[in-house]
This record gives sequence, C-alpha cells and structure tokens, in this order.
Amino acid sequence: MKSQRPEVVVGDVMLLRQRLRALVTQAAEGAAADGRRWSMAIPGGSVVAQLLSALGPHDAPWEACDLFWVDERAVPWTDPDSNYGQARAHWLGSLASTGVRLHPIPVDVPTLEGCATAYEATMSAVLGPDGVLDLVIVGVGEDGHVASLFPGDEEALGSSRLVIPVAHSPKPPAQRLTLTLRALTGGRCLVAAAFGASKATAVRAALRDEDWELPITRLLRDARRVNVLLDRAAAGQD
Ligand code: 6PG
Repeated sequence: MKSQRPEVVVGDVMLLRQRLRALVTQAAEGAAADGRRWSMAIPGGSVVAQLLSALGPHDAPWEACDLFWVDERAVPWTDPDSNYGQARAHWLGSLASTGVRLHPIPVDVPTLEGCATAYEATMSAVLGPDGVLDLVIVGVGEDGHVASLFPGDEEALGSSRLVIPVAHSPKPPAQRLTLTLRALTGGRCLVAAAFGASKATAVRAALRDEDWELPITRLLRDARRVNVLLDRAAAGQD
C-alpha cells in the first residue's frame, strides 16, 4: 500500500518546528481543497514541549481543526500525567480563542473499555466510519513504542479496532487508551518525532525496516506518507 520512502529531517528544534508547521499547513489546505474540516492527532511527552507548543494561533486555520489524541493515560485530565492536561498546560491556552475543536480521550467512563468505545464513536462521528485523520503525530519511545502500543503486545498491535484499552503498559501509568496501528496508519500523513540519543537505536531500526518487534518499525512501514523529525542525537549523529 505504501509507495514512498519516509522523508527524514534532522536538525535543531527550529528546523523541526518549521517542518511541522509546513506539514500542518499542507494538511489543512488538503482538507480545504476537498471542502472539509481538517484533523490532527497528537501524542503526550516531549513532542508537546518541543514542537507543538510552537504552533501559534496564526500558524493554521484552527477554526476548521478537529484535534484528537493518539493516546491517553487513565488518569483525570487534571492529573500531571494526563496527555490532554499536559497539552492544556503547555500549549492549548494560546489557541483558546481560535475555535479549534478539542476531542480529548475520555477517562471518566466507568471502564477502560467504555472509554475506548466512546472515543471510537467520536472518531467515527467526526472523521467518518474509518476514522481517517489528516495528520497523525507520534513520539517514539526508547523501546520503540508509539502512542501506547508497546513491543510484544501482539494482540494490541494486530487489533482491527480504532481505539483500545491498555491494561499493563510497561511505561507508567499502567492503564491507558491508545489509537491502534490501524488508526495511526490510516491517516493521510504521519509525523514521527524523536529527541535525544536514547531514541537512536529504535529510530535507526525503524528507518532500516528492521526489527519487527518494534511498533515504530511497523508504523513507518505501513503508514501512507511518512515524515520523521529528529534532532541530531536521535539520528545518531552526536
Ligand atoms: C505517552 C505518549 C508516548 C510518547 C513516547 C515518547 O502518552 O506516553 O504518547 O507514546 O510519545 O513515550 O515520549 P517522549 O517523547 O516524552 O520520550
């Protein structure tokens, strides 16, 4: 299905922010050309502080944006561990008056399964039955995880759903919700971003299409249009 090799950009944070801004613009313009709103899904972790927080109110037509999350920790949104809470604290305040529509992953439904089902319903209602996002952004774990899909969890990695509960994440907190590889690879454009030397081994393996244990390898292989944004350390250049 995939026809292009990943486009890799290595450089300082200013360059990576510039590239992300261009990809956001392309995603929004592509959707506008089709006469529809545009959508983006974002991770937690360093990507928020390093890249997303630099996207300001004038960097995109936010009034036409539906913003989703690629994963969430099963904690209240007010908890410092919450991905939605992190984005609110470090970024979303600056977009408050833009009209962006926020779709955080619910954590207030009694069961994790109920939260996953509710988010699948939201994705389908907003994005269509297959939940196709315009731009999917993920960070990369040292162990090659993406969103909350971890190496070795074959049931999760092979899921045909859009959103699943995760009961035993090796990265705390243990209970999470995550978009599946199906949802992440179904997007029109993927951005994988990594910072720091601890990510270099997983990133190298994924770019060489090696090590099928790693979710990042599978994601880069199967996603439609792949952009990889790396600082020099994550690219193994330091
Ligand atoms: C999460 C994230 C997760 C993250 C990676 C990389 O909720 O934990 O979505 O997938 O993106 O663990 O995190 P860092 O960039 O902070 O290392």
